[in-house]
Parts: sequence; C-alpha cells; structure tokens
Amino acid sequence: MVAGDRRSGVRTWLYVVAALVVAMVAVGGATRLTGSGLSITEWRPVTGALPPLSDADWAAEFAKYKDTPQYAILNQGMGLSAFKVLYGWEWGHRLLGRLIGLVFFVPLLVFWWQGRISRRLGLGLLGLGALGGLQGAIGWIMVASGLQPGMTAVAPIKLALHLTTASLILAGLIWLAAGERGDVSAPAPGRLRATAALLPLAILAQIFLGGLVAGSHAGLVYNTWPTMDGALVPSADTLFAIRPWIENFADNHALVQFNHRMIAYLVIALALLHAVDARLSGSPAAAGRAAGIAGLALLQASLGIATLLLGVPLWAALAHQVLAMALLTMATVNARLSRGTGRVRPIAAAVPLGFEGLAGRGVYAFPRRTVMAAARDTVHRPPETSG
Ligand code: HEM
Repeated sequence: MVAGDRRSGVRTWLYVVAALVVAMVAVGGATRLTGSGLSITEWRPVTGALPPLSDADWAAEFAKYKDTPQYAILNQGMGLSAFKVLYGWEWGHRLLGRLIGLVFFVPLLVFWWQGRISRRLGLGLLGLGALGGLQGAIGWIMVASGLQPGMTAVAPIKLALHLTTASLILAGLIWLAAGERGDVSAPAPGRLRATAALLPLAILAQIFLGGLVAGSHAGLVYNTWPTMDGALVPSADTLFAIRPWIENFADNHALVQFNHRMIAYLVIALALLHAVDARLSGSPAAAGRAAGIAGLALLQASLGIATLLLGVPLWAALAHQVLAMALLTMATVNARLSRGTGRVRPIAAAVPLGFEGLAGRGVYAFPRRTVMAAARDTVHRPPETSG
C-alpha cells in the first residue's frame, strides 16, 4: 500500500469519529432542550447499554426518577409513556457515547497493529482517548449535580464544561485528521498563522460561554438586539448585581448573556481580519478557507440573534449549537493547514542530484531542514572503517 492510501484511510476514520462527536453534541443538545437529562439516575457504563426491557424494569426506572427533585418540583403526575420519551433521549445520548468509544478504539488498535499510526499521531490519539474517558466522567458529575436536593436542572458551569470538552475532542480529531493530508503545502506567513491559531481558541471560549447561557437559561431574558436592557452595554449595577462579584460570571443572567454577545463580536472581528489578511497573502486556498470561516461566523451570530429574539425555540437552539461545531471544525482545519503539511514526498523528487541514495533507503521528507540535515550527515560522517 502506498503512503498516501495508508494515510487517507486513517484520515477518513478520524473524520467519521468527528462526525459521530457532532451527532453526540446534537443529541446532547436535544436531551437538554427536551428536559430529559435527569431521567436516568445512575451511571452504569457497561450494563446501562441495555434499556429497560420488561414492564417491571420500566416501573423500577420510573420509581427511581420519581425520587428526584426534578420530578417532585416540575413533573409531578407525569405518566409512564412521557417518562419513556425522556428516558429515550438520555439513553440514546449515552449509547452514542459508547458507540464512539468503539469506533475510536477498535480501528485504532487495527491501524496501530498495521503500523499505520506514527508515534506523534499515536500520542495525540491516546490523549484524545483519555479526554473521551474524562468526558464520560464529567457527564456523570454534571448529571449528579442536577440530582441534588432542590435542583431541577444540572449546574450551568458543569454543562458548559461538558460541552467545551466535547468541542475540544472534536477539534483534536479534526486537527489530527487535517495533519494526515498527503499533499504538500508550505506554512502561511507568521501573522496569518497566528490569527488562524487564535480563531479556534476564541471559538472554544465562545462555546463555553454559550454553554453557560444555555445551562442557566439566560437566553430567556433580555430578548432584544443589539441593545440589552435598553443599552448596548447594560449598567454595572445590572451586570454585577450579585455579591461576591465573581459569581456574576456564572450566575447572573445579564452578565452571562452579555459576555456571550461580546465574545461573538470578537470572533467575528477576528474572522474578518483573518479573511482580509488571507486575501492579501496571495494564496487562493488560504483566502477561500478564511472567507468561509468569516461567512460561517456571521451566519452563526445571526442564528444566535434569531434564537434570542424568538425566545429559544428548540430548532433554533439546536441549529445554533450544531453550527458552532461546524465553525470550530473549519477554524481548526484552517489553523492546522496554515502550519503547512506534507511529509510524504519521496526525497528523490525534492532534492538535487546526488542525494537520490537517501530515497533508496525509503527516507521521506518535506521540510527542507530535514533534507539539509540528512545531507550534512552524509557529507560529514567520518569514513567507515572496515574489518
Ligand atoms: C460566533 C458566534 C457564536 C457562537 C460560536 C455561539 C455558540 C453557542 C453555543 C455553543 C451555545 C450553546 C448551545 C447549547 O448548549 O444548546 C450557544 C447558546 C446560545 N447563544 Fe450563541 N454563539 C454565538 C453567537 C451568539 C449571538 C451573537 C447570540 C445573540 C446575541 C447568541 C445567543 C445564544 C443564545 C440565546 C443561546 C442559548 C440557547 C439555549 O438556551 O439553548 N449566540 N451559543
């Protein structure tokens, strides 16, 4: 098998896992928006894969749910069929998590065994695997926070952390997949590379803040735009109404929503700046990618505004969440490609006559530095002594 095929198989697999992570985020969003997230009151990573199968199993699960504060405060009198719908969303979300684990680890072992995973890629993938395990635990810690006395939903900060970790896993998969491209491209100029690297970081921060808005239901108040509470910037008394001041960042609807608006403007400004810079750089590929990111950022912000003005209908909130993943994906691909790609060009095609012998030994290199270092080694190595 040639090197390009070996890498494209790995790349396709990484993109499939990434697509499943996006599906997981969407199902997680639907689980939250339908109020289903607290319907399964235990964490059984293996045995929980089976849903209740008999009437007695369902009655037992429903009885456990009836013991939760959410049932007592919000859902008194709910029937078994309505409970089954809640349970279905949460069970589906958890099952998808298990499926992602399988689709990630089984091919990983096969590719590793076939020698198709480089050391660097392997380390990255192991890191992502660990983050995936941690994400399951964060998910349960989040659910447990919603089962505490007096709670009817999970703690907003834990929801934001859960969403951000999912996004980080997605960005990691996309980063590694984009790095497996077989073609060769040179790194972008310094400033373009810097803004390309900043974009996914700013979007991740914005996703965290969006998770706080969603988790605290801060989108159900101040449903006007561009003003908020009658002004572009609400008064300090409104933004910092709670003492101690630090708690406003998670618990005050006004500041939580205001921060999400402000970082949206920052993301858009950064994306536009990057797009102009990329256009001036003279690289059509970089300009195309940057224009796509700027367009998607504007679309995402418009959808956020619509979600707010309409009072957070399910379809708009879900679309806003999924589009955030698309934006993060594009920005991550762009950041990775702006660093330059391609280590699989046979050296014979890249270096002047005289170094072909290296190619014969199966050496592949893209960075000129590698070629030059190999050349230096060849020239300065002391003559071998025989016998
Ligand atoms: C680059 C821009 C933006 C990004 C990446 C972004 C991302 C997100 C994310 C990831 C969520 C969490 C969704 C969930 O967990 O259900 C969210 C929630 C939200 N965002 Fe944005 N957002 C952006 C801009 C905006 C803007 C400009 C507004 C309005 C002015 C807005 C309004 C909202 C609202 C109201 C929610 C809560 C939805 C709910 O309760 O489910 N967003 N955002």
